[in-house]
Amino acid sequence: MKPELTLHERTLKLQRYPVRKNETLQAWDAADEYLINHVHDMELDPQRPILIINDSFGALGCWFAQKGKVTSVTDSYISKQGCIANLKANQLPPIKIIDCLAELPENPQLVLVKLPKNNRLLIWQLQQLCNLLPQDCVVIGAAKVKEIHTSTLKLFEKYLGVTKTSLAVKKARLIFCQPNPALAKPMPAPQQWDVPEHNLTMTNHANVFSSDSLDIGARLLLEHIPQNDKYTDIIDLGCGNGVIGLKAARLNPHANITCVDESYMAVASCEANAKLNLQTPEQLTAMVSNCLDEAQPNSADLILCNPPFHQQTAITDHIAWQMFCDSKQVLRAKGQLIVIGNRHLGYDDKLKRLFGNVSVIARNNKFVVYQSGK
Ligand SMILES: C[S@@+](CC[C@H](N)C(=O)[O-])C[C@H]1O[C@@H](n2cnc3c(N)ncnc32)[C@H](O)[C@@H]1O
Repeated sequence: MKPELTLHERTLKLQRYPVRKNETLQAWDAADEYLINHVHDMELDPQRPILIINDSFGALGCWFAQKGKVTSVTDSYISKQGCIANLKANQLPPIKIIDCLAELPENPQLVLVKLPKNNRLLIWQLQQLCNLLPQDCVVIGAAKVKEIHTSTLKLFEKYLGVTKTSLAVKKARLIFCQPNPALAKPMPAPQQWDVPEHNLTMTNHANVFSSDSLDIGARLLLEHIPQNDKYTDIIDLGCGNGVIGLKAARLNPHANITCVDESYMAVASCEANAKLNLQTPEQLTAMVSNCLDEAQPNSADLILCNPPFHQQTAITDHIAWQMFCDSKQVLRAKGQLIVIGNRHLGYDDKLKRLFGNVSVIARNNKFVVYQSGK
């Protein structure tokens, strides 16, 4: 696959992040191309900000980097790193990249919104925009045709303003929305719910995995978190709201718990949940990272993991595989990796290949909890 996007006699070399040998997935899609083509003839004011929201791996950030004051807004550390790497590879100047909880720049002239997979995040972002945008700001959404439903357009109408759509081109469509400041409302508080059987209260920002209830996989894993006075360092890998790490912290009060996720909203939720649920919140550290890129080898006794099985809209097990490989590096001798997975995902083969051992510590009709030792 050629990692080159050529439009209007300009070529960008664009790669996904992290770069993989024999990558089969492209770093941009037809909706990015449609947005670029549509904006090509627009006159832009070099003084007013351009906002790019939910850029996948920086295709839009790279294209518009020299066209004005660009701010890219993303909840994904991976997308941010992809954008930085692609800007560099194309000798483009850095752009401002902020997370979805940060304050947006005032008085933008143009907002390009790639639709997120999660409608809760879309609603949150539309409300954030409605509180900020002047009426003359041009707002253009974009996605694959199959991702734009009547209900999606209703969300734009309800939370931002009058909405129209374009014709489809290469199976992508644009959404045009006229911001109406009269629809502005105070931003909603994060969702909160209890897990009474574990005496936990979970706060969830909009883009957190399973943000309206406890994931059924996590529910099974919670029953099988070990307790051992010898543990000094435990990692919750792909922590989401941190429910697994919190339970591990309660069971192992002398261990340091590190919760890792690539979503800024997940890490912010996890930090809030440590304060809400732990007597000593400092026992838990939450950090944004791609898998265990930032962790030292031989530094953990136990890693708990409920891995993701997609990256953005692509279904893939490569992140789970990277999580398992990183865990092997980061575990101390005799350390354990405990993984929950849907039965059909076949994580046991992968764990056996990597660690040379795997056992089943629990199962129900949908999920299996595996354990491998280093
Ligand atoms: C299946 S969810 C599990 C969430 C939580 N542990 C639970 O059990 O409810 C997987 C999590 O992995 C995170 N994730 C995806 N890719 C990642 C990566 N490359 N590095 C770190 N975390 C990642 C996702 O944001 C998501 O929160």
